[in-house]
Amino acid sequence: MSLLIKDGEIVTADARYKADIFCADEQITCIGPNLEVPKGTTVINAKGKYVFPGFIDPHVHIYLPFMGTYSKDTYKSASKAALVGGTTTLIEMCCPGREESPLEAYKFWLNKAEGLSACDFTFHMGVARFDKQAASELKKIVEDGIASFKIFLAYKGAFGISDEELYHALALAKKLGVIVTAHCENADLVYEMQKKLLSEGKIGPKWHYWSRPPMVEAEGVHHLATFAQMHDTHIYTVHTSCRESLRAALRARERGVKIWVETLIQYLTHSKDDAERPNFEGSKYVMSPPLRDKSNQEVFWNALAQGMVSTVATDHAPFDFRDQKRMGLKDFTKIPNGIPSLEDRVKMLWTKGVSTGKLTMNQFVDVGSTQAAKIFGMFPRKGTIAVGSDADMVVWDPKYRGKISVKNQYMDVDYNPYDGWEITGRPSVVTMRGQVAARNGKFTGKLGHGKLVRREPTHF
Ligand code: URP
Ligand code: ZN
Ligand code: ZN
Repeated sequence: MSLLIKDGEIVTADARYKADIFCADEQITCIGPNLEVPKGTTVINAKGKYVFPGFIDPHVHIYLPFMGTYSKDTYKSASKAALVGGTTTLIEMCCPGREESPLEAYKFWLNKAEGLSACDFTFHMGVARFDKQAASELKKIVEDGIASFKIFLAYKGAFGISDEELYHALALAKKLGVIVTAHCENADLVYEMQKKLLSEGKIGPKWHYWSRPPMVEAEGVHHLATFAQMHDTHIYTVHTSCRESLRAALRARERGVKIWVETLIQYLTHSKDDAERPNFEGSKYVMSPPLRDKSNQEVFWNALAQGMVSTVATDHAPFDFRDQKRMGLKDFTKIPNGIPSLEDRVKMLWTKGVSTGKLTMNQFVDVGSTQAAKIFGMFPRKGTIAVGSDADMVVWDPKYRGKISVKNQYMDVDYNPYDGWEITGRPSVVTMRGQVAARNGKFTGKLGHGKLVRREPTHF
């Protein structure tokens, strides 16, 4: 099976040039001008288009038991949505409960993806409890190719761990050479603020923000960084939403903490005004940390352009408006947290980032793909276009003009925060390890073609 992408302009994180790309089976085997076309080769004409490496979403929830319900997607819907939108690899959060065996949970999560996913995938392994047994199981999971942990400082009584557990989990991570990704919000502060607001009769979605203001997140980042510094563990703050927490991360970096920062497309495009929409519409925009004051958007665009923030993820966590979000109709603390966006991240990053001149195309590739591959041990197999890399590519049509519509989305959820938004480009062809997986907004790939990306620890 061979594939030739002809006459396109290749754009990676650090280069831009015109050439053909030849792929034999699942990998790129030759890049150069005017390549020959062996018989039986599928040819994709990329004239007038850009060719990017497949995009990587480093923070996704597909199976998520959370706040008394489950997130809506399965790998069937989510992997199609990812591919149509240009994401060829996703990293799902494996989030076991405190009482669960990490190893059993890992097998359970893996079983949901293997044989069904159309795109490649891997996991950040959630650490919801830390003891001797958990430590020995986590070691086995790392040996199976899962080179990152996930911890929650938030969600008291659910996924959140104690400081003692945090200390030991970070020590183990250092020993094993894995990076620890973390949800940074002070759980006790959130809990106390929630009780206070509810006691004052403040029950609507807009109060979610006030139960977890910026300083609560900044405290979480500082807290994590302080603990990580004790062991020199490499850390990654997920869904960083505001200037206060970014500053805490940069201050930690200044004093030598190995810290990487992720933000989300939602924080770049939406604000706390959305969570204030009337008629409970605001619940569609409830996530944690909350959408922030609009002025943060410029801070994050600049921080991305200057390399202070490494990645733009989605934290895709789909809950229907119709029934699931309504669980919190009379109490904002019961609104399932999360905003879907797996399908639209890349298009919005292009439309609001590249088309407006906030990011160069190289930066777009870097923050949407390459950095995630490097930080999480997948580079250069993923995250670039090079001989030997997996043939995951996005042929991008910069002339396309259209609108995002909830009506034809692949994500299995009844709303879309970008419904009706204009886009200024989209993937015209997406290849997944050498197979054409999407064309012009339609899934054309194969369920089950996706594989677990096994990763070696690199963060010693
Ligand atoms: O609101 C969010 N972010 N929901 C998903 C769970 C998490 O905290 O990542
Ligand atoms: Zn989180
Ligand atoms: Zn998340």
